[in-house]
Amino acid sequence: ANPSLLILAGDGIGPEVMAEVKKIIGWFGAKRGVTFDVTEDLVGGCAYDKHGTPLHDDTMAKAQEVDAVLLGAVGGPQYDILDFSVKPERGLLRLRKEMDLYSNLRPAQCFDALADFSSLKKEVVAGLDIVIVRELTSGVYFGEPRGIFTEGNERVGINTQRYTESEIARVARSAFELARRRNNKVCSMEKANVMESGILWRQVVQEVHDKEYPDVQLSHMYADAGAMQLCRWPKQFDVIVTDNLFGDLLSDAAAMLTGSLGMLPSASLGAPMANGRPKALYEPVHGSAPDIAGQGKANPIACILSFAMALRYSFDMGDDATRVEKAVEKVLADGVRTADLMGPEGGKPVSTSQMGDAILAALDAS
Ligand code: NAI
Ligand code: MG
Repeated sequence: ANPSLLILAGDGIGPEVMAEVKKIIGWFGAKRGVTFDVTEDLVGGCAYDKHGTPLHDDTMAKAQEVDAVLLGAVGGPQYDILDFSVKPERGLLRLRKEMDLYSNLRPAQCFDALADFSSLKKEVVAGLDIVIVRELTSGVYFGEPRGIFTEGNERVGINTQRYTESEIARVARSAFELARRRNNKVCSMEKANVMESGILWRQVVQEVHDKEYPDVQLSHMYADAGAMQLCRWPKQFDVIVTDNLFGDLLSDAAAMLTGSLGMLPSASLGAPMANGRPKALYEPVHGSAPDIAGQGKANPIACILSFAMALRYSFDMGDDATRVEKAVEKVLADGVRTADLMGPEGGKPVSTSQMGDAILAALDAS
């Protein structure tokens, strides 16, 4: 059977950047003889407009069947007044929850041509290529009890950091599997010095390592020290695995080592399916960018690199993923820039579709 893909382009610039990915999917059919069975559907505000819900049950069912879901972005100011239960982002949250996508991969990769864009010195970031694996479905964002309560004569806000051993073990496995496909090196971050959940985290990651992945080099670091090291010398890392809260902070910080939001892909992975590959949703890190939507200004690279991650992790097409990444690298080296990648020196930016075409041309030449 052909590899199957559900495309949920969503709102704002979502459909604009997704159009460029569809060109690349077409290229794989025409030039590489790889045909994807693509289904397209609605998510977010556009789904609400049509169905009164940000994710229709039929769409949810399709997402469970396909090899991979590729999502653009959801949201927009016109939906801000909606009730919380039907807000666009609820569509995305439902996908993550029902597909049980517990492992969030956030690469921080610095293309040489953009090293000047980083907030850090060029030599610290040039050639940087690390992945942060963030636990996505548990921890302090979900633990009970939670709420604002009254204690005596004042209010108290409570959240609970809670991790079971199996929740830690499965995300640890995901990180070790990733490490085996890369450079066999994992650094686990927690705060075992002050948190019980951190002590358990460190123990379980070590146990999974010793039993199942002794070939991978494992180190542990306190997450605050990790934040310092990420800024000081990020190239010491390869795969970092951490919990939901620390992963939220560390992946946002690491993202800014590399420049624009328009460049950052992500993958959210769940348990292995019958074919041995994980359930998966791929999406750019950025949102629907209402300030530039409809103007042909959006940078499609984050979405294109998300598709490259799908090729690598869902379709066993690692060489083709690298080929797409190299094509992106080539156009950047050639100086092709969307507006978000223009420095203060200026120049003439290309449009969303011109960037997509340039990447296609580079693929053709590869
Ligand atoms: P945003 O990521 O949409 O935009 C932040 C800034 O980055 C804007 O100035 C935007 O123009 C720029 N930007 C983002 N992506 C870009 C790209 N590909 N090319 C060029 N410039 C780009 O975040 P913001 O403005 O906070 O949120 C806008 C809407 O998106 C909201 O409704 C929010 O809820 C939603 N959102 C959705 C996400 C998702 O679908 N996963 C994630 C984050 C926000
Ligand atoms: Mg965040």
